[in-house]
Amino acid sequence: MKKGIKILLLPVVFIMMEGCGKVKNSSSSDVALASGTEAFVAAKQVVADKCLSCHSAWTSYSETDYISKNLVTKKNPTNSSVYNRIRGNDTGIAGDMPQSNPNLSQAEMQLIKTWINNIE
Ligand code: HEC
Repeated sequence: MKKGIKILLLPVVFIMMEGCGKVKNSSSSDVALASGTEAFVAAKQVVADKCLSCHSAWTSYSETDYISKNLVTKKNPTNSSVYNRIRGNDTGIAGDMPQSNPNLSQAEMQLIKTWINNIE
């Protein structure tokens, strides 16, 4: 009985290991961009391109996660650190993001702002 279980588990472990390799090698553009409102999906694309290289923890965040982790205040961009940090590039506010990288374009900033303004 015990031997049987061990033999069955072996392939499962191999499948799991292979799965881990795939996750590690995936690029930020593989992020599940399709879920959420249109405004969130558009903002997620900007975050995937410009932020996830450092903020990899955000990869799986839903809108609710951004709110509960105090990164975003719904309908209030200027009270949202995600917006204030990028806006800093534009206005000179401390803590410019993306750190050590070129500023976001006006269009990219606008997509983040539009998302936050549209969170229900
Ligand atoms: C090159 C790496 C890098 C990139 C790219 C980057 N960040 Fe950051 N970010 C950091 C580091 C390091 C910190 C922590 C130090 C600090 O707070 O300034 C941080 C902190 C933050 C914080 C506050 C800390 C928190 O998690 O509560 C926010 C908000 C933030 N970043 C937003 C962004 C956004 C939005 C982008 C993309 C437009 C971005 N960052 C891109 C490195 C980066």
